[in-house]
Formats: sequence, structure tokens, C-alpha cells
Amino acid sequence: MPRSAVAIVLPRAEFVAVQEHLNEAGYEAIAVENADELEQLLVGRTDVNVAILDGETDFDRTLEMYAILHEDGRNIPALMLMPPRALGRMGLGGNSDVKDEYFSRPYSAESLRWRIEAMLIRVESVPADSIPEGGLVGRMNASGGLERPEGSEGADAGAIPVVASADLEHAAGVSDQGEKRGKIVIVFNPKGGVGKTTISINLGAALQIRKGQRVLLVDCDTITGHIASSLGLQRPRTLAKAWREDATNGAYESIAQIATVHSSGISVLVMAESPLHTEILDPRRVADAIIAARDSYDWVILDMHPDYGPLNQALFEQADRILVPVTPDVPCIRAAVQFREVAVELDIRDRLTIVINRANSGVAASDVERVVAIPAVARVRSAGMLFVRAADEGKSAVERFPTAKVVGDIDNLADRLLSGTGSNARPGFSSRNRIAGSFRGLFDRLTTQVS
Ligand SMILES: Nc1ncnc2c1ncn2[C@@H]1O[C@H](COP(=O)(O)OP(=O)(O)O)[C@@H](O)[C@H]1O
Ligand SMILES: [Mg+2]
Repeated sequence: MPRSAVAIVLPRAEFVAVQEHLNEAGYEAIAVENADELEQLLVGRTDVNVAILDGETDFDRTLEMYAILHEDGRNIPALMLMPPRALGRMGLGGNSDVKDEYFSRPYSAESLRWRIEAMLIRVESVPADSIPEGGLVGRMNASGGLERPEGSEGADAGAIPVVASADLEHAAGVSDQGEKRGKIVIVFNPKGGVGKTTISINLGAALQIRKGQRVLLVDCDTITGHIASSLGLQRPRTLAKAWREDATNGAYESIAQIATVHSSGISVLVMAESPLHTEILDPRRVADAIIAARDSYDWVILDMHPDYGPLNQALFEQADRILVPVTPDVPCIRAAVQFREVAVELDIRDRLTIVINRANSGVAASDVERVVAIPAVARVRSAGMLFVRAADEGKSAVERFPTAKVVGDIDNLADRLLSGTGSNARPGFSSRNRIAGSFRGLFDRLTTQVS
């Protein structure tokens, strides 16, 4: 499906900043000045699937535009700027198919990109009549206060709850044909700098070195990926290069043949040397090749670029588990909540577990888990410069600092994956209808607490 366009009513400078991020995500940003312009636009085009409105600067004008979004059989969701004090008073509790979202100044243009992308995934992938009762967007209760997601009560105790263990056959990855198949573990959070790469590398090393597993580690990030440099691999053969060569020679190579073996024993696959000239990396073909690699490895760990594009969607669909590293700070928690919402749309929510990274700092781990409303499978403590020092030597921390406490945390995570712990969310977390959440109210509270 061609990507959507976004109508934007924001002051010029803000428009330009937001436009840049939306273009990067492949969406067209269209500046709109007034209600007439908006109406003309929507009459002329059917690919405008979301609008950003500025209810702070001119509320009456915004109401008029909001009405236009819903006229003539249209039902276009709005992401609306509101004064912070109004946010807490928006009583949306009674409206069952509300798809609008709200934000307030100051905001970062990049954060709008993620929210728009998440909203568009809903619009693009969910037929309007399949919206479950309770809506797709988290809601506040009428007083703007807290409305806990059902099933979150158990998370209160402070400790990470013990989650239901998976049935063992599934955990062992036995395919329909009876042969053993590796598991695909995705490490994802739409926010950068939260520990995706660090956890991918060290989890891979722990499984390979300490648990005797065969591990393939894939750097799916062609733009900012740095697995190869962190592991001291100088210019490893890339998937793009191998496929270009194969196309010339008429050869076929499996991923196991293309990947580079690191001194730790893990196989490492890098997509491309630079973000340019990656045309050969057709998302479907890449996803199929990675999925096929399950036959050669026990664990396929994917360090993903933070986006919701076609490659990531194809991989999400096939993942056995999705680990979401969350650092205990509000921007990261917000990003995780947003991903949880997208995961509901993609019907992969049951595969999500969070790994609380830098767990001994910031917001309490139990609060992180409760607000994100995804069970935690492990905590990884903050380890100062240890990961950086290991990377300087081209090693994982598991190899370089085997007795460090943080490596013990990673070891623990590896054990939990091996035992299948947490691979099914607790009952009460799994149903779409129970998600009707409340995160905005919780965030308001959390933001007040930490700021
Ligand atoms: N638990 C931790 N303790 C100390 N430093 C960490 C920890 N987790 C991540 N880091 C550091 O934070 C930075 C960002 O981590 P990274 O794994 O690259 O994040 P992402 O892949 O999500 O962008 C890196 O410098 C990494 O070494
Ligand atoms: Mg990374």
C-alpha cells in the first residue's frame, strides 16, 4: 500500500521540523493553513489518513477543522496539540471508537513521527469495522485520572512477577515436520540509545558461550547499526554485497554461508556497508532469508532499526519473542507504550516482554512494568563504561568481563529465554479488549513524579 499523507496545521517552523521526520519515515507532510484548505485537500485526495491540529494556538479554528475530518463519511484521526492543563481534563471515556491522540508543547518533532507512524499503522491495517470495543487508543477515564489496565494488579509487589512458562514443545521450537528449529528473538524499542544493540550482542554471546547454543546475530539496522564495529569485525561481508555477487555469478548462498563468525563463536550478519545502494535488500526477501536461517541456528537474534516499515513488520510477524529494552525514564517508557499499542494492532502483543535496562536507576522497575503493562523477563543493571570498554576491544562483555554482575544479569536473561519463561503473557495481558488503557493518565502522574 502506498504510504499515507499527513495534513498538518502548525506554525511554519514547527511544520518544517515535523515534515523532515515524517519524510524520513516515508510519509508526505502537507501544510494546511485553514479549514477551507483542509476541506479542499480532503475532497481532492484519499490518502490523507491523519491530521495534526493545533488546538493550543486557536481552539475554535481547530474545532472547525476537526469537524471537517469527520464530514462526508470521513473518519480521519487527529493528533491534537493541547495546552498541558487541558490534557488532564479531556474526558474521552464514553467514546468507544475514539482514534484521536493528544500532545502538548514542548514536544520533539521526532516523537511526533513515532506517534503518527503508530496511528497510521492502525488506520492502514485495521478495517474500521473490526475496531474492538474499548477502542484502539488508550483512554483516560472521565476525570482524567488513572484507569488501570485489567490484569496489572499482580505487578504491584515490586518484584518482577514470575510469568507463566511456555509449553515445552513450543519452547524447544519443534517444527511441524518434527525437526528442531531455532527461535527468532527480536530486540526492539522505537527509541534509540536504550540498549538494543548492547543486549543483542551480549545475549547472543551468553547463549553461545555459556549455554552452548548456536547463535546468529543480525544487525538489521542499515542506517545506524554498529554491531560489527562493537565486535571488532572490520568490514565483514554484508548481505547486500553477497546478494549482488550471487546475482552476477548465478550462485546461491544461505545466510549461514554469508555470515561472519566472531571470536565468541556467534555468527554475525550485517545488512550493508552503508545505507546507500541497498536496493537489493528487498524487505520480503531479507525477511524470508532470516526466517530460513532458523534451520541452521538455535537462536536468531535480531537487532532492529527503530521503524515500523515493511521489513520490520515481516520480521515481527515471524518472531517467537520480542524483547523490549526499557530504560527507567519517561521518554523511553512512552516509546515502549507506543510500541505496545502498535503490537496490539499487529497482533503480536503476546510475544512482548520487557527487559528493564539500567534497572537500578530512575523510575522504579515495578513502576516501569506497571505503566508499560508488559511483563518483564529480566533486569540488566547499569554498568558504567563496561560495555564501551568491551566494545573497544572488539568483544562482548560476556567474554571480556565474565565475572561482572551485569554479565550475571545477561546470563539470567539467557536462562529465562532457554526455559521459555515469560514467552506467553499472563492471562489478562493477552486480550485486545482489556487493553483499553489509561496510559495518558498514568503518564501524567509519572511525569509529575519524576520532574
Ligand atoms: N546497562 C547498561 N549499562 C551501561 N551502559 C549501557 C547499558 N546499556 C546500554 N549502555 C550504553 O548505552 C549506549 C546506548 O546503547 P545501545 O545498545 O547502542 O542502544 P540502542 O541500540 O537501543 O540504540 C551505549 O553506549 C551502551 O554501551
Ligand atoms: Mg542500536
